[in-house]
Amino acid sequence: MILIKTPSQIDGIRASSKLATATLKYTASFIKSGISTEFLNQKAHDYIIAHKAIPAPLNYGGFPKSICTSINNVVCHGIPSKKEILKEGDIVNIDVTTILNGYYGDTSATYPVGKISSEAKLLIERTKKSLDLAIKSVKAGQYLNESVGRVIENYLTPFGYSIVRDLGGHGVGLKFHEDPFVFHHNTPENHILLKAGMIFTIEPMVNASPNWHIYQDKNDGWTIQTEDGSLSAQFEHTILVTDSGAEVLTKL
Ligand code: MF3
Ligand code: CO
Ligand code: CO
Repeated sequence: MILIKTPSQIDGIRASSKLATATLKYTASFIKSGISTEFLNQKAHDYIIAHKAIPAPLNYGGFPKSICTSINNVVCHGIPSKKEILKEGDIVNIDVTTILNGYYGDTSATYPVGKISSEAKLLIERTKKSLDLAIKSVKAGQYLNESVGRVIENYLTPFGYSIVRDLGGHGVGLKFHEDPFVFHHNTPENHILLKAGMIFTIEPMVNASPNWHIYQDKNDGWTIQTEDGSLSAQFEHTILVTDSGAEVLTKL
């Protein structure tokens, strides 16, 4: 069941989303070669708590940290660690979800560590562009798969990239993960009519090879990696469907 949020729920989700965005920007400002992903986790955690909110990932299904940090061939759900040190040339996704007054906001972005390869730079730029194109296509009266999956797939496939299928965007706001499951490739499963007041994330995970397959780390039960070791990038926004288009809630 896809919820239509009320005006007061929308205000609450907008406020949480703004805090998630502010947290992401603040945390990303510490990115440099030589720091650990646990350092980023600590910065995000303290910032969220200082703003009277809760980091949604912490203890979510047993997840042990307050953000996800996903480096290079890690697609998503990377667990911050003191032993994991950023190095020049890496790309790192930081994914922040906040709970403020009971409302959820969810956003992520992929950043370079120092100077990165032109392949990595293009992957980051194109992944972000695919999200922006999808956002521009969302509007009440459109179909979800035609505004999101089809737009992202048509833009990215010619580059020889692939779009992860096993994980997707999701309704969000009153809970971390609500209906609908948002595919980032075109599929009839997402032939859903968009209505004003729907809130969901769009968060394409894009592999720099034609292989969209992934696997989950057997030891930690979380970290998702590309099957073939290729780089993967991701950007995520929480958006509100309106009659005139999409409002990006995770925008400062
Ligand atoms: N923030 C992720 C998403 O975009 C979910 C992370 S779940 C966690 O849906 F448990 F790993 F935090
Ligand atoms: Co999400
Ligand atoms: Co997220």
